[in-house]
Amino acid sequence: MKTEDKSFDFDLMAPAPQTEPERQYYFMAKLREKIFALEAIQKQPPTYFLETFGCQMNEKQSEVVAGILDEVGFVRTDSEEKADVVLFNTCTVRENANMKVYGRLGLIKHHKKSHPSKRIVLFGCMMQEQEEAERIRTQYPFVDLVFGTHNNYQFAELYYKMLERDAQLIEIWQEPRGIVEELPSERNYSFKAGVNIMYGCNNFCSYCIVPYVRGRERSREPAAILREVEKLSAEGVTEVMLLGQNVNSYGKTLPQKVSFAELMREVEKVEGIHRLRFMTSHPKDLSDELIAYLAESRKCCHHLHLPVQSGSSRVLKDMNRHYDKEQYLELVRKIREAVPDISLTSDIMVGYPGETEEDFQETMDVVRKAQYDTAFTFIYSRRAGTPAAKREDQIPEAVVQDRFDRLLALVQEVGRERSSRFTGTVQEVLVETESKEKGIFTGRTQYNLLAHFPASAQMLGKYVRVRLSECKGFYYLGELAE
Ligand code: 5AD
Ligand code: SF4
Repeated sequence: MKTEDKSFDFDLMAPAPQTEPERQYYFMAKLREKIFALEAIQKQPPTYFLETFGCQMNEKQSEVVAGILDEVGFVRTDSEEKADVVLFNTCTVRENANMKVYGRLGLIKHHKKSHPSKRIVLFGCMMQEQEEAERIRTQYPFVDLVFGTHNNYQFAELYYKMLERDAQLIEIWQEPRGIVEELPSERNYSFKAGVNIMYGCNNFCSYCIVPYVRGRERSREPAAILREVEKLSAEGVTEVMLLGQNVNSYGKTLPQKVSFAELMREVEKVEGIHRLRFMTSHPKDLSDELIAYLAESRKCCHHLHLPVQSGSSRVLKDMNRHYDKEQYLELVRKIREAVPDISLTSDIMVGYPGETEEDFQETMDVVRKAQYDTAFTFIYSRRAGTPAAKREDQIPEAVVQDRFDRLLALVQEVGRERSSRFTGTVQEVLVETESKEKGIFTGRTQYNLLAHFPASAQMLGKYVRVRLSECKGFYYLGELAE
């Protein structure tokens, strides 16, 4: 699904424009010439394989890169081995995300031996770390292009420059230099889309690398967000997810202050928008205004992702989270009182330096009391450069693994029970994909619960009523109602 197709009439012999996004469209036009020439020789368009690691912010940035590649004449493929260009949008939030990329590079090096013109591109958060970019430069010379999170929008220009010089190009900016909008973007779904409302993070949780690789918090202007949502709606999108590392502090950096709840109220007025979601909420900034909005809105889904990280007030203080266990549970109480059917989800970490068995039991207690529908559970990962990484009281692996297993078992037990509360009810479901089993489709309720049911392809992207007959833990089997 393609959005934003600006046509500019460029004199390609003239120097590149200095303004954005015109400059990028100029390089797209230059790239298109090269790709056409290549296509004429190969007798088929060149292909690309793009894989995204990590969060929805990365997904969004990948959509822009894919949009540009499509725009200049590449065709997407799911064969990493055969693709003419392989791109990885990397994540560095935990060590295992980094390991995956290096593992994959070993294989691609091998593929490149039999396909020497294959190009390899790495971008995203992991590349934003100096040591990683340096490692690529010194140990992975077969990688052709590397860029970071701040200059993602320059992909066309960088790719063109890399082809021209025909040597490895690494370009990372230490700081963001403004927000560039209105580039092509290739969305995964025609009926639902994510929209960035802010970039970066100012919270500096002691374990987290995100503020270092995504920079300071910047909010987009409401007018720009509304323009994007209107455009998406005109293209058939009915479900919008507003994205940011901490959406509850939206608007604080704008010259004219706007609260997140105010923004939501404007967004839901856009004609054609049927469902609104948002991610991620930091408990310290979740306002009464937002809770009131959630209770009264007819479009905002009753699902709140509210990462707790730990249940121990001592650990939370050390993590620099700015709330304690009691404040978190009080917040949950207030939300449940205002929105009784809310589905609550969380991110929880075990093995933070210095975490004791008592601290861990506090975490287990929060899971029981908060009654999460589901939670992402993580093993603390030591990220170089963060305050927590410097601590000497790192927890032995076996202890962490044992806590992780116990936490996961509890999260699953609570989640199974919570999710089953809809058994036998009829819910509105957005039909999203056809499953591997032909004729069986998968959709999502406003509570973010998945349902599988027999339907037909015309129903894709539509809202249908589904009777949720059987709860299978984290998803339902059902059938169309009425
Ligand atoms: N180790 C483990 N998990 C982490 N997260 C962030 N940093 C780390 C880390 N160093 C988790 C947090 C966050 C989620 C996106 O990733 O739980 O909410
Ligand atoms: Fe990381 Fe904390 Fe910012 Fe989330 S709020 S991105 S955990 S620093």
